[in-house]
Amino acid sequence: MKLFPKLTNPHVIGVIFLVVLLGLQELKVTECRVISEYDEKVEYYSAIDCRKHSAFLTDFGAVGDGKTSNTKVFEYAIRNLSQYGNDGGSLLVVPPGKWLTGSFNLTSHFTLFLQNDAVILASQDESEWPSLPVLPSYGRGRDAPNGRFSSLIFGTNLTDVVITGCNGTIDGQGSYWWDKFHKDELNLTRPYLIEIMFSNQIQISNLTLINSPSWFVHPIYSSDIIIQGLNIIAPIDSPNTDGIDPDSCSNVRIEDSQIISGDDCVAIKSGWDQYGIKFGMPSQHIIIRRLKCVSPDSAMIALGSEMSGGIQDIRVEDLTAINTQSAVRIKSAIGRGGFVKDIFVRGMNLNTMKYVFWMTGSYGSHPDPSFDPKALPIISGINYSNVVANNVTYSARLEGINGDPFSGICISNVTIHNVGNKLQWNCSDVEGVTSNVYPKPCELLPEKEGKFDCYFPDDKLPIESVDLKTCSFVSGLLF
Ligand SMILES: *[C@@H]1O[C@H](CO)[C@@H](O)[C@H](O)[C@H]1NC(C)=O
Ligand SMILES: *[C@@H]1O[C@H](CO)[C@@H](O)[C@H](O)[C@H]1NC(C)=O
Ligand SMILES: *[C@@H]1O[C@H](CO)[C@@H](O)[C@H](O)[C@H]1NC(C)=O
Ligand SMILES: *[C@@H]1O[C@H](CO)[C@@H](O)[C@H](O)[C@H]1NC(C)=O
Ligand SMILES: *[C@@H]1O[C@H](CO)[C@@H](O)[C@H](O)[C@H]1NC(C)=O
Ligand SMILES: *[C@@H]1O[C@H](CO)[C@@H](O)[C@H](O)[C@H]1NC(C)=O
Ligand SMILES: *[C@@H]1O[C@H](CO)[C@@H](O)[C@H](O)[C@H]1NC(C)=O
Ligand SMILES: *[C@@H]1O[C@H](CO)[C@@H](O)[C@H](O)[C@H]1NC(C)=O
Ligand SMILES: *[C@@H]1O[C@H](CO)[C@@H](O)[C@H](O)[C@H]1NC(C)=O
Ligand SMILES: *[C@@H]1O[C@H](CO)[C@@H](O)[C@H](O)[C@H]1NC(C)=O
Repeated sequence: MKLFPKLTNPHVIGVIFLVVLLGLQELKVTECRVISEYDEKVEYYSAIDCRKHSAFLTDFGAVGDGKTSNTKVFEYAIRNLSQYGNDGGSLLVVPPGKWLTGSFNLTSHFTLFLQNDAVILASQDESEWPSLPVLPSYGRGRDAPNGRFSSLIFGTNLTDVVITGCNGTIDGQGSYWWDKFHKDELNLTRPYLIEIMFSNQIQISNLTLINSPSWFVHPIYSSDIIIQGLNIIAPIDSPNTDGIDPDSCSNVRIEDSQIISGDDCVAIKSGWDQYGIKFGMPSQHIIIRRLKCVSPDSAMIALGSEMSGGIQDIRVEDLTAINTQSAVRIKSAIGRGGFVKDIFVRGMNLNTMKYVFWMTGSYGSHPDPSFDPKALPIISGINYSNVVANNVTYSARLEGINGDPFSGICISNVTIHNVGNKLQWNCSDVEGVTSNVYPKPCELLPEKEGKFDCYFPDDKLPIESVDLKTCSFVSGLLF
């Protein structure tokens, strides 16, 4: 368990400094085209599908003063618009203003669009957050065993849902929940910012997401998901503020986003010990590209530790991490079962890292004592290539499981500039090969004769071929 010190000004300054380092100003998420013709303004955006019907949140009586609760307004508006599900779908526009709300549910064939300067503010009043049963693949809540708060923006059993905007903001106002977590006062697991369950055809794009109570974006038991142009920010010491957590999901594309957070920037998961094994739904066919990450105490991309339904065919390209604990980290434990296989990582530019390569077979952290100690994870077919890293403490800490080695590890074309610890490669219970790697790897990963590149698939995932349509709506007079 990490200790989470109270937020103080130096941390805020630190985050601002890192934002500058990452070159946030270069991120072109706000280039939404707003074309003015006479008095009408036509706003354009890209989406998996355009909508025939549209309405403004204010049409339903919303008040954007940051104080009035709009929970009922969001619920009513979306229920009202759900009638168009079979008639071309609907768009709900959130105009500039501060729209306070508790948790609300989405509907199918629906787009939630946040205009520039629109801010959805999450309520800190617990009565605005209904409870949900625990996730079947987890068997219990993460913070508290009995149940969990519904996420701010929640959807289940849906198809064709878009959450996008012209860099509008969703602010989770997480400090309330972080305090309760630190004081151990939570009876239910903290809400996530956005959770979509048992759904397909999902797009989340061109938004700024800040200060989630816990994880930011949690698609679970879902498929065909595009996540792009997200700007995710939480204090680097905020508890469990993972950026994007695809969980038992297939065919996922995550791209062109940047994440500064207190936990893993991206964490791919698939259920926890005996519950995840029984549920048996893997995370697979996922591509992650052009991501920037800052996470001093966690990974740029974590695989696990909850991986009991399996993680397979994950492709990772063109990543940048600054001041991050490790790059792509595999986390598992005896009792998890499941597998992590066919992992392909190509092109990482890293600066100020504790470990470049990190695998952990002793993560522990079980939901309850009835996990099966004979359920060993299979970790195999892990390919990394084209890595440049500066200011690194350790090149690698690769720790498999005694009697259950992590195998088929391939590492090629890697240059790591270190501060110079003696034990650069610390390996146990791992098997594999390396080529053109500096500094010299451990003996368990011998340099193979003749230079070669580790494998990366040539084919495209189906989700990579999905083109977004250009959609528009008439925004008329703003307000
Ligand atoms: C998007 O909005 C966030 C928060 O309002 C801001 O920090 C960021 O600079 C904006 N991005 C661009 C490209 O304007
Ligand atoms: C996000 O903004 C970029 C830059 O304007 C644009 O190219 C892209 O199509 C937008 N994406 C979506 C999903 O609207
Ligand atoms: C909601 O739906 C009803 C019934 O279709 C419709 O008459 C009404 O105009 C809609 N909008 C609002 C703001 O209630
Ligand atoms: C939102 O969806 C959940 C799960 O289906 C349900 O329990 C809850 O009642 C819904 N909330 C509203 C306001 O309809
Ligand atoms: C949602 O889908 C899941 C899986 O198909 C099913 O078990 C569940 O009953 C569905 N829930 C609702 C509210 O339809
Ligand atoms: C939360 O749990 C505490 C004991 O841990 C109990 O005193 C309190 O009443 C519970 N609150 C709610 C809202 O259930
Ligand atoms: C190098 O890494 C250390 C932490 O290991 C950090 O304190 C220092 O600021 C980094 N230096 C540079 C130039 O980034
Ligand atoms: C690289 O990936 C392939 C395909 O998943 C796998 O079979 C192989 O074991 C991996 N590692 C090596 C050393 O080739
Ligand atoms: C090796 O990695 C570097 C840095 O990522 C890249 O520029 C170069 O093209 C790679 N070389 C080969 C042979 O792939
Ligand atoms: C090497 O790794 C093992 C297992 O992860 C760990 O227990 C040990 O402390 C490490 N050694 C050093 C010198 O870091």
